[in-house]
Amino acid sequence: MTLCGNGICVVLCWFLGVSSGLRPVALSLDGKWSLSNSDCSVSLPAEVPGCVHSALQQQGFIQDPYFRFNDVSYRWIAYDNWTYTTTFAGSTQLRASQKVLLVFDGVDTVASIWLNGLAVGKTDNMFRRYDFTVSGLLKDGDNVLKVSLLSPVLYASERRKAHSAYRVPPECPPDVQKGECHVNFIRKEQSSFSWDWGPSFPTMGLWKGVRLEAFDVLQLIQLVFESFSFFLQSSQVKLWWPNGHGDQPCYRLTVRGFQGGFLVLNTESKVYFRSVELVQEPVVGSPGLSFYFRINGKPIFLKGSNWIPAHSFQDRVTPAVLRNLLQSAVDARMNALRVWGGGVYEQDLFYSICDEMGIMVWQDFMFACAMYPTEGDFIQTVREEVIQQVQRLKSHPSIIAWSGNNENEAALATDWFNIPVSQRPAYLKDYVTLYVDNIRAVGQEDQSRPFLVSSPSNGAESEQEGWVASNPYDPHYGDTHFYSYTLDCWDWRTFPRTRFASEYGFQSWPSFSTLLPVSIKEDWSYNSNFSSHRQHHEDGNLRMLLQAALHFNLPNATDPVKRFTDTLYITQVMQAQCVKTQTEFYRRSQSEIIEGKGRTMGALYWQLNDVWQAPSWSSIEFGGKWKMLHYFAQNFFAAVLPVGFEDGDTLFIYAVSDLSHDLKLRAAVSVYSWSDLDPVCTLKSDLHPISGGSATAIFKQPVAALLAGCGSCTRLTCLLTFHLEDSSGQQGPRNHHFLCSPKDAQGVQRPNITVRHSQDEAGYSVTLHSASVAAFVWLDVGNVTGRFGSNGFLMTSRNRTVRFNAWCNTSVEELSRSLTVTSLRDLY
Ligand SMILES: *[C@@H]1O[C@H](CO)[C@@H](O)[C@H](O)[C@H]1NC(C)=O
Ligand SMILES: *[C@@H]1O[C@H](CO)[C@@H](O)[C@H](O)[C@H]1NC(C)=O
Ligand SMILES: *[C@@H]1O[C@H](CO)[C@@H](O)[C@H](O)[C@H]1NC(C)=O
Ligand SMILES: *[C@@H]1O[C@H](CO)[C@@H](O)[C@H](O)[C@H]1NC(C)=O
Ligand SMILES: *[C@@H]1O[C@H](CO)[C@@H](O)[C@H](O)[C@H]1NC(C)=O
Ligand SMILES: *[C@@H]1O[C@H](CO)[C@@H](O)[C@H](O)[C@H]1NC(C)=O
Ligand SMILES: *[C@@H]1O[C@H](CO)[C@@H](O)[C@H](O)[C@H]1NC(C)=O
Repeated sequence: MTLCGNGICVVLCWFLGVSSGLRPVALSLDGKWSLSNSDCSVSLPAEVPGCVHSALQQQGFIQDPYFRFNDVSYRWIAYDNWTYTTTFAGSTQLRASQKVLLVFDGVDTVASIWLNGLAVGKTDNMFRRYDFTVSGLLKDGDNVLKVSLLSPVLYASERRKAHSAYRVPPECPPDVQKGECHVNFIRKEQSSFSWDWGPSFPTMGLWKGVRLEAFDVLQLIQLVFESFSFFLQSSQVKLWWPNGHGDQPCYRLTVRGFQGGFLVLNTESKVYFRSVELVQEPVVGSPGLSFYFRINGKPIFLKGSNWIPAHSFQDRVTPAVLRNLLQSAVDARMNALRVWGGGVYEQDLFYSICDEMGIMVWQDFMFACAMYPTEGDFIQTVREEVIQQVQRLKSHPSIIAWSGNNENEAALATDWFNIPVSQRPAYLKDYVTLYVDNIRAVGQEDQSRPFLVSSPSNGAESEQEGWVASNPYDPHYGDTHFYSYTLDCWDWRTFPRTRFASEYGFQSWPSFSTLLPVSIKEDWSYNSNFSSHRQHHEDGNLRMLLQAALHFNLPNATDPVKRFTDTLYITQVMQAQCVKTQTEFYRRSQSEIIEGKGRTMGALYWQLNDVWQAPSWSSIEFGGKWKMLHYFAQNFFAAVLPVGFEDGDTLFIYAVSDLSHDLKLRAAVSVYSWSDLDPVCTLKSDLHPISGGSATAIFKQPVAALLAGCGSCTRLTCLLTFHLEDSSGQQGPRNHHFLCSPKDAQGVQRPNITVRHSQDEAGYSVTLHSASVAAFVWLDVGNVTGRFGSNGFLMTSRNRTVRFNAWCNTSVEELSRSLTVTSLRDLY
């Protein structure tokens, strides 16, 4: 359906499940089934939807699969074959129907399906819905339905063996991931065979609903909606806007169909109106092309992160888990998430919540970090997958782009897999066949959104270069992914001045309370087997410490558990400060071209959430607890933000604004001595006009001159805080800038922070009292779930009150018993 009017033309992609209202008999087969392994040595009841691992745990056959080293201990589960069986009554009404379909909304993954001993069909793709016609196979009385699942590890390896002509790399994940091989040969969550942030749990099961649907053929009226267009003036509809740019108004569309006076169709759906364009056009003063999204005609800077599966076992991803994570994204002022291509196409509720909250979704197709086969049956199942997913999801305004794969263009272009030059053309051909000739061709059934072939890519330039650019990381085009663990993350010069940063990040450890349920005492040290086991990134634990050591004293407490928890803390400090620096660099680069580069219009750090309790790039721990980084994101994604940095010993402050209207702002800079809670001096710039949607330099002064005018301050003894203000007061959060590494600072004292707890109608709060300037002040209430109003902050006042928003029933007593306060000076 296309809705056009004056000015913008709103294309509404609305797919009505035409037959959904025409199904008078539907029998759900969800609930308790029975499950057994290949030699029937294990047999147990199992919930559908669900998976083998969940059933085994629920019935007490295994412990929590996330406990300690269980990912390795439970490898046998995915090497075995498993059969799900259920019995249901074939009602007369069902059997009298002219057509009966057996519908599986999701089978994970390779299965043969049997009804009353007769083969009904096979499945090979977790991302497809399967319908089998079973009319005539149903009996009176008990019917027996069996789903026999083949080991996905075995299947992947057999498909690999059958593909003898040439390698389809990578063969196996790196050893540090302790994973399984050849996941690219099976249409299944790619990270389920392990990833650099996650365990290997190659799941098997009926992960979505199963039902019978019965029709009388007479009722199968083809309702054709093309020719059926509404024309509305665009001024008549209220538009859907991304979070921070307006509301997300929704209309209810009810469609009723009558036949011979009977209601045969009655559906209601939510309808939203918005337009999206991806703008790739020449940029004045810069080679290359712009790369930004225009929503309803307005250029929008995308602020957010990347989404990975919320659990290894999708049946544990409850509505509450989704809501909590997505609310956390919105509370950190994000407006966009990329649903990353190594996970799953998320459940409907995920996208409905994104619609409601104004979260824009960059939706990858599920291909990641690999080459893929292109045999006929593989292509066929992928085409069906793409058709179904596009039809299922295209009515969601939150989705603003489709993207073919994660990093596969880059993998080919920069030769991750050592492909001999002579064989390159074969791989290029396969790449184009899969993503362009098939996925893109099928996906373009939805003309209302941009389709990108890969991330990162050079967008239109990659297409010019035959879909695989010589350098897909070129900052003059498209989006980039950038990671560096060895360079100093406090130095913004190390970051690419890209058009769009769709991945960047640093690892940290989750907090002690998150690790407690999956570890025992001997695990609580940074050098334990457990700590190495949970780290799936080569040298990851060491790299975190080396990066932290560039600027901080590392913990050296003699008590081993304190030393461990202090180390967890310092990795979070390091991560928060690194990602802050990088994100602020991208936000302040949105209006400038420097040395031909700039006009950055997106910052999506890697990664939002975690799949288990382990070190990773996430800002939210498994279970929903915010890391320090997520609290920092609340500030660095603020609509109005002051960004401070040095260039050649000159301090610059930029005012960044995502607002629609113009502002007049000045920068106010306070200089503090590390040894004193009262500012040494305060400077203010003149008022500057700040246009909506821009980044503008409003303060510039050599650091030496600034300090010379400010008592006896030196780089080692003082630090800066700053904010933006106008006549009505402070606008946006306060920010800070260190003039030296805190480990080199002079005059730093133990702040000896004391706490008062209180409770009023609005909830809980803590009032901190500090004896000196304290950096990275971190409040932790262990396993009491909830979040603080702010955390990880720089304390330059004697007292500060912080609210605690509890997610569960708690009490002042429990909070005061659980609370620990840590600041940088408490580590050594
Ligand atoms: C699983 O099924 C495959 C195919 O029938 C068979 O080759 C394999 O041996 C079975 N695995 C087990 C553990 O029985
Ligand atoms: C750690 O793992 C190594 C190698 O598997 C083993 O030899 C050692 O005993 C383990 N140490 C502890 C404390 O479990
Ligand atoms: C913190 O307490 C220690 C030990 O009592 C004391 O030496 C130090 O001076 C205190 N710090 C401040 C800033 O008062
Ligand atoms: C929370 O942590 C405390 C202290 O470690 C422990 O006593 C309590 O059992 C934990 N509660 C839950 C629900 O895990
Ligand atoms: C700050 O906290 C201290 C210690 O809790 C208290 O004595 C003092 O009154 C507080 N000051 C202000 C201004 O609230
Ligand atoms: C909440 O906690 C209080 C105090 O522990 C208790 O009296 C109350 O019953 C609890 N409420 C709920 C809903 O659990
Ligand atoms: C810990 O490190 C600090 C700073 O380097 C040092 O002053 C202190 O003596 C060390 N303490 C221990 C117990 O090693």
